[in-house]
Amino acid sequence: KPLIIKTKQEMRKWSRQMKQQNKTIGLVPTMGYLHQGHLSLISESQKHTHLTVVSIYINPSQFAANEDLGTYPSDFEGDIEKLREFGNGVDVVFNPYNLYDYGGEGVEGGHETWVRVEGLEKGMCGTSRPVFFRGVATVVAKLFNIVEPDVAVFGKKDYQQWRVIERMVRDLDFGVEVIGSELVREEDGLAMSSRNVRLSPQDREQALSISRSLFEAKSAAEKGKLVCSDLRRSVIEKIEAAGGKVDYVEIVDQKCLEAVEEIKNGVVVCVAAWFGKVRLIDNIEIDVS
Ligand code: PAJ
Repeated sequence: KPLIIKTKQEMRKWSRQMKQQNKTIGLVPTMGYLHQGHLSLISESQKHTHLTVVSIYINPSQFAANEDLGTYPSDFEGDIEKLREFGNGVDVVFNPYNLYDYGGEGVEGGHETWVRVEGLEKGMCGTSRPVFFRGVATVVAKLFNIVEPDVAVFGKKDYQQWRVIERMVRDLDFGVEVIGSELVREEDGLAMSSRNVRLSPQDREQALSISRSLFEAKSAAEKGKLVCSDLRRSVIEKIEAAGGKVDYVEIVDQKCLEAVEEIKNGVVVCVAAWFGKVRLIDNIEIDVS
């Protein structure tokens, strides 16, 4: 344990067998280089189902040509080791090599079907990464069709991604329950991310300005500072003062992700910013009554 499955055919076979034994299956999709954030999703999944599948697959179609597919960190053996240390919980690691192998032309075997969640994929990460959510939604749809999970867990770290997947599942009637799991931080506040290893020590220190400015915005809002343009400006200023390059700071409704002008119940402040060659994202939910 865990059983390592490398092809989509075997994966589907395993899931079908388990379903015949009336077992329920939870899926945690990842791109590997696992950290505590990923492990917390596994714990969440285990609360809901008999069996847990973790997929590890660096999905090329969600990276644009100018993005960091080539330098995205990976360590499959290390990941398996972490999962073993984590205990008995993970039943299968699905690490497919033939996801796009249909025997057709080109690297993606002639793949030409894409899932687009047209509203929610716009704005925030969708603005600077125009093909990102199309790639994510499509690969997650493929994983759902192959693994046929009862439950799938996504981190609120990638807030917009979670909402995009939820909407895809609703709109296309996937028989999967999508669960959003809490964002996990390092002790000093930095949101855990596989990409954090690519930060230089100096960038790592400066990147703390993201979480700090988010915590400050939340406490300011809770003290009655409700004007979003002011809150946004102060987050941007703090990140820039630390040496980061802000991609966006948005304060949006937690469900529809539309910008709000004044803090109300159920908003989330979302940030993307560059430190060195690394683009980091983070967010904080705010509920005021
Ligand atoms: P990846 O970045 O590996 O993240 C896998 C899952 O872990 C996502 O649901 C993400 O939100 C969650 N996660 C990452 N860091 C987290 C943190 N600090 N706290 C809580 N959850 C965290 O997201 C992807 O991969 C891919 O886009 C994928 C969904 C696998 C499709 O390719």
